[in-house]
Amino acid sequence: MRYIGNKTRLLGFIRRVLRARGIEPGSAVDPFTGTASVASELKRLGFRVVASDIMEYAYVFGRAYVEVAAEPSFDGLAPEIADLPMQAAVPDRSVLASVAAPALVIGCRGDATHPPQVAEQLAAALPNATLHIYDQPAVLWTNRADLRLRISEFLNG
Ligand SMILES: C[S@@+](CC[C@H](N)C(=O)[O-])C[C@H]1O[C@@H](n2cnc3c(N)ncnc32)[C@H](O)[C@@H]1O
Repeated sequence: MRYIGNKTRLLGFIRRVLRARGIEPGSAVDPFTGTASVASELKRLGFRVVASDIMEYAYVFGRAYVEVAAEPSFDGLAPEIADLPMQAAVPDRSVLASVAAPALVIGCRGDATHPPQVAEQLAAALPNATLHIYDQPAVLWTNRADLRLRISEFLNG
């Protein structure tokens, strides 16, 4: 993450210091964890990490990158959320045929809350739609530059 004071670029240095001083994985405390870059690297190296920070953003990073041991499963998705993608805002999709404006429909695979077939159906229902489906979820993080370019080109086109 671009954040003033983020230590991602120092991780190699930190690893070299640990190696040079013979510090084996044990317990580590990162009291000003910020983006949790150091804490998550220490965890990756096998340390038991305690991370803290006064700011809530850091709590979120800590939960995501330090506390959570694996990618969460969505087996326990609340039924209200699990059903959401199949609910249609427009009960009769044929009305979408009268939309004259160009539309850009972005979808992705691998996100239970955004099935790609919904994006495909939406693009098919809009007469002037361009569809793009990414092969992975969380495109705001995984394909940010491409997504930005795609939207800019659409808006400027
Ligand atoms: C330079 S950043 C930490 C950078 C971090 N190592 C990283 O890689 O992102 C400093 C952090 O200290 C936290 N901080 C400042 N004063 C604090 C305090 N009194 N108690 C806890 N956290 C504090 C800030 O919220 C900020 O996230």
